[in-house]
Amino acid sequence: MNILVTGGAGFIGSNFIYYQLKNHPDDRIVCLDALTYAGNLANLESALNHPSFRFVKGDITDRACVFKLFEEEKFDIVANFAAESHVDRSVENPGVFLHTNVFGTQVLLDACRQYGVKRFHQVSTDEVYGDLPIDRKDLFFTESSPLRASSPYSASKAAADLLALAYYRTYQVPVTISRCSNNYGPYHFPEKLIPLMITRALNDQSLPVYGKGENIRDWLYVEDHCAAVDLVMRSGRAGEVYNIGGHNEKSNIEIVKLILKILGKPESLITFVADRPGHDLRYAIDNTKITSELGWSPQTEFEDGLQKTVQWYLNNRSWWENILAGEYKNYYERMYARR
Ligand code: NAD
Ligand code: DAU
Repeated sequence: MNILVTGGAGFIGSNFIYYQLKNHPDDRIVCLDALTYAGNLANLESALNHPSFRFVKGDITDRACVFKLFEEEKFDIVANFAAESHVDRSVENPGVFLHTNVFGTQVLLDACRQYGVKRFHQVSTDEVYGDLPIDRKDLFFTESSPLRASSPYSASKAAADLLALAYYRTYQVPVTISRCSNNYGPYHFPEKLIPLMITRALNDQSLPVYGKGENIRDWLYVEDHCAAVDLVMRSGRAGEVYNIGGHNEKSNIEIVKLILKILGKPESLITFVADRPGHDLRYAIDNTKITSELGWSPQTEFEDGLQKTVQWYLNNRSWWENILAGEYKNYYERMYARR
């Protein structure tokens, strides 16, 4: 199989490429990535010289670039991880989210339609369902929950999902969609909760918790997400949506305290700051469909996954210090100074 992975220089995409090279040695992987602020070739360092791997710097919204690549490579499968992915940035500047996440997905779907593929897999998110009340632990997102996106980011992802399903219905492009809960693990960009708290705690800096820290996320180790996407894109039914999550709900404050405990740092570093506008209260996934239909189940216990993740940030200090020393400084200042 010849597989296109878009956004493969980002957090989940790079983990997915390593998963593919390890578990499907006969397949070839081409990564198309624009190397935005979130894309980092250092994430792919161990893949770059692999004989079954090719990296192409390019933008999924650049129709000429995408069509040329499809013409050259004749892909069997396309897995679209490329996206603007951070909710806070979407609150600040929605336009780029619509451009990349919606228009970019359309360009890829058009290329799939023109050149023909066995599968177009859209990596989506549980955020398309909006949120659930904190005090109703009996409620979960299923694949038929209504789309009720709260942020410009999640609205753009919901739009892309609808477009993918429309291309299935109208043009018979064989699409699948997966909607996963929050991931954590190696190569996670330090703008997101877990790596932000680990790296700041390691530098003895204050830890900005939004609101009261009561919001709940359903955390999944990134390799478990990669295994699920792999199963869906190879064996899932065309035209179907699959939710991915490991029933691991934690409040933000619990997460931050756990990180401090692992690092042996004081809770006095925690600082409560102004809440995120439109902040989703709780995400929780019903994973019955993927577990019963495709036999997927999460393999990593949260405590083990968090330990491994903290250890990765300890072992790879130069990876995140390089990020923190660049444009990130301005981002942090802009986003947090007035909170
Ligand atoms: P990320 O921000 O770490 O990486 C995104 C990657 O896409 C980067 O390498 C970036 O350079 C690339 N990219 C951005 N715009 C591009 C463009 N126009 N053309 C080509 N490449 C472009 O994101 P992530 O956290 O790895 O998320 C990957 C996907 O998974 C996204 O679609 C996201 O919506 C989805 N998702 C993420 C999570 C999570 O917890 N992180 C959970 C569920 C779903
Ligand atoms: O649910 C899947 C989604 O998970 C993905 O689609 C997104 O791409 C991914 O970024 C993530 O979205 P969240 O908004 O849930 O992740 P984030 O790490 O930004 O925030 C997690 C929680 O922590 C959220 O309730 C906001 C809170 N938070 C976050 C940051 C960055 C803080 O309290 N302080 C912070 O500084």
